[in-house]
Amino acid sequence: MAPQLLRTVAEVSAWGAGLRRAGRRLALVPTMGFLHEGHLSLMREGRRHADVVAASIFVNPTQFGPKEDLARYPRDLEGDLARCAGAGVDVVFAPTEPGAMYPPGYQTYVEVTEVSKGLCGDRRPGHFRGVATIVTQLLCLFRPEVALFGEKDYQQLQVIKALNRDLHLGVEILGMPTVREPDGLAMSSRNAYLSAEERKRALSLSRGLGAAQALSRAGTREAAALVEAVRRELRAADLREDYVELVDAERLTPLATLQPGQPARLLVAAFCGATRLIDNQSIGG
Ligand code: PAF
Repeated sequence: MAPQLLRTVAEVSAWGAGLRRAGRRLALVPTMGFLHEGHLSLMREGRRHADVVAASIFVNPTQFGPKEDLARYPRDLEGDLARCAGAGVDVVFAPTEPGAMYPPGYQTYVEVTEVSKGLCGDRRPGHFRGVATIVTQLLCLFRPEVALFGEKDYQQLQVIKALNRDLHLGVEILGMPTVREPDGLAMSSRNAYLSAEERKRALSLSRGLGAAQALSRAGTREAAALVEAVRRELRAADLREDYVELVDAERLTPLATLQPGQPARLLVAAFCGATRLIDNQSIGG
């Protein structure tokens, strides 16, 4: 069945009030649209945790830098609505206006100071402020019991967990495993930018993470060696590294070595032609 389409904040407020009166549990999947299997897996998982599943589709301008791809970010509302229907989504919030969430007079921004540091936070100044602001808005507007996000944006997930905890929003934040193409490429709306030749070279991210994981399983504990395993693959495919880092899985602080029992994450960002891709992998621990 086609999801109910809400186009304004006022419509969401009225709909949410009705839902709460009826005592129904809500799962929310915030997205920027151009949905792929990664998003759809979040929507299907949402169904397991709630009576009603809502998705938002909004290309959030405040999380893009001035030289980034806001204007050309892929959009396909018709296709997205069909995909949401297939995934059993009940309601889709897709504001009509790009400025709908930032009307004249808007002046409230959310900054998560610690886990926004380093990694994408350093390379994309202001990005996590934009993400934290829109996600806080959506959580306050929908007041879901559960909200689901992909682990592909691993630092984003930690930022969202922190704001939810610090602002006492009381939402259960579920991070779900990255969904990959059969050859290992992490699914991303930005994969649409890749030419056929770039698409092949883009595999170096997941290949590098796989090589590092194999090394760690064979006993390598030094971050430098694990990072080098990823860099080797990026170089071989002629990708330009943005960063490759081993960090504590929760605090995202850099690690020099893997420690037994300490969950760690290896994260990579690299440019494949003009397209910036990210991926990450749990490692050691
Ligand atoms: O991951 C995304 O698609 C976006 O960053 C999010 C969480 C929907 C906020 O705009």
